[in-house]
Amino acid sequence: MGKKDLKLRILNDSTNSINTASKLILNGDAVAVMAETVYGLAVDASNKSAIKNLYSLKKRPKNNPLIIHVESINMALEFGKGNEDFLILAGTFWPGPLTIILPQKKKSSISKEATAGLKSVALRMPKSKVFLRLIKKVGKPLAAPSANLSGYISATDSKHVQECFKNNIKLILDSGRCEYGLESTVINLTKKPYIIERMGVINKEEIFKKTKILTIEKNQKKKKIVSPGQLFKHYSPKKPLRLNAKYPKIGESFLAFGSTFADSKYCLNLSKKSNLKEAAYNLFYYLRKLDNLEKKKIAVSPIPMRGLGKTINERLRRASLG
Ligand code: TXA
Ligand code: MG
Repeated sequence: MGKKDLKLRILNDSTNSINTASKLILNGDAVAVMAETVYGLAVDASNKSAIKNLYSLKKRPKNNPLIIHVESINMALEFGKGNEDFLILAGTFWPGPLTIILPQKKKSSISKEATAGLKSVALRMPKSKVFLRLIKKVGKPLAAPSANLSGYISATDSKHVQECFKNNIKLILDSGRCEYGLESTVINLTKKPYIIERMGVINKEEIFKKTKILTIEKNQKKKKIVSPGQLFKHYSPKKPLRLNAKYPKIGESFLAFGSTFADSKYCLNLSKKSNLKEAAYNLFYYLRKLDNLEKKKIAVSPIPMRGLGKTINERLRRASLG
């Protein structure tokens, strides 16, 4: 291996860089690519050793399966057994931030390491143009977890990916900041009632409104956990969080929301206009910034429990478990 192979390249997304990325992936490497939600670290879903490397790069527990990214409903149906409701959901929300868990087909070429040996498979067709172009160029589905070290805050900008992986990966396709800044919603169609395993950009009210399909949000305390990812400490900064804080105390930086008097270099406001989409967009981005300041703790304003606010609160609660 030449010396230049050991250095991370960060390239704007272009036909050339997508070709380079595709070659690397077909060669068994991981490439960081922007989804509309968060950055993903993509490998060939059928390549066992590439997947094993990916788990060790991320320090991800082996029993936490990956989402398989496809470029069409037809590609999804090569691997998952889709029912009528799958076709309705995918037809309505794809390409977009909805991950759908289906029973996996017996003849699936997806490596069992990618699905942690489960009989199901989580599939998603991203809306991000660069991601879709990359899947098409590779010609196979891509397994892609969020491009962060396991347990840490997800990456919503290429520089976050760089901070996490440095020269341990070869290529980041840099497309700027992610549109949403929060991960996809994960819905389990393998049995009824359909359960939302992970809250995300799309909520159950929107799913029902657009498809008349009923889902229930998993109650973290009572229901059996199916998505292994939900078992772990997650999205956590190095500094402890103090939630529902009206004001920061001495020694704390402040993640504010809405109108507040707090105004200093230690205060970042998720959305001065109290806009939850804007707050989601800024959530992980600002948490990372505050995590790098010299304050010992991060205080966080209360966030309203409506719409995207529910997902933001769920992420903050998990992040505060640290
Ligand atoms: O927005 C997203 O979904 C991003 C982008 C890159 O697409 N990806 C992402 O992947 O968030 P990751 O690996 O960080 O989270 C995947 C989640 C985990 O909670 C995992 O346990 C769950 O999906 N999951 C994957 N396959 C599953 C399966 N077969 N059954 C149950 N849960 C599954
Ligand atoms: Mg993740």
